[in-house]
Amino acid sequence: MERIAASRYLATATSVELEAIEDPEFRRLIDPAKYGAGSARQSQRSRMATTTATADYWEPLWAGGRRYREVTSTEATLFIDHVGAGRGRPALDIGTGEGSLARRLHQFGYRTTGIDFAPSAITAARSAQHGEGPTWHLMDFTADDLSALPDPAYAVVTCRLVYRWTDDKAAFLGRVRQVLAPGGTFWVVTELAGRREAGDPYCHLGMSPAEAEILTAGWSVARTADLDVLRCYALRP
Ligand SMILES: C[S@@+](CC[C@H](N)C(=O)[O-])C[C@H]1O[C@@H](n2cnc3c(N)ncnc32)[C@H](O)[C@@H]1O
Repeated sequence: MERIAASRYLATATSVELEAIEDPEFRRLIDPAKYGAGSARQSQRSRMATTTATADYWEPLWAGGRRYREVTSTEATLFIDHVGAGRGRPALDIGTGEGSLARRLHQFGYRTTGIDFAPSAITAARSAQHGEGPTWHLMDFTADDLSALPDPAYAVVTCRLVYRWTDDKAAFLGRVRQVLAPGGTFWVVTELAGRREAGDPYCHLGMSPAEAEILTAGWSVARTADLDVLRCYALRP
């Protein structure tokens, strides 16, 4: 049972482009003989209470130094082609992490707010900023009061390498619509299932067609652009 738990833990962790799992929690799960069955059971209990939709999952990863792929110039160009420059309009980056996309939005002229529910991610975003840039807020987008955001509505809402890890996707999208200004754009970047070569240990870990269907349903415009294993979506109400 611990081994099944370990493989699920590994599947979840690797799917966010994590490198080798080095944390003791994981080792206890895969090797209860060495670390003790009691320890493994305790680890399993804490793992079951910690899904990818919680700060408890992400905080130790950020605190432990885990980082994710930066926004490349190719990805940034796709954004400009599909969404356009900011001209002082407000943008909200949900699950901003270290702020790679939020800083690009700022450069493109958006008055940008980056939010994340992992304190160490917000600390990393603040540390990576030199001079003018986005404002950063510690906030759980799915649970906190959205009226606490600095702006009542956003011309652009972005969500990069985040949507895949939310549990109630319909509820998440409902909250995005609450903060998106009329005529605004929701920009999502996510890995798609089937993009990796057969045999790649991470090949089954992208967003499924059913999850993509939930994401794209109900928008008046849904444009996509592909980037290696990723797909970018520009969605308009
Ligand atoms: C894989 S990282 C991506 C970080 C960043 N967007 C990037 O592209 O580098 C996912 C991030 O989403 C954040 N996150 C997930 N669900 C969240 C939520 N409900 N509210 C705020 N942040 C969330 C996590 O804390 C984590 O920092």
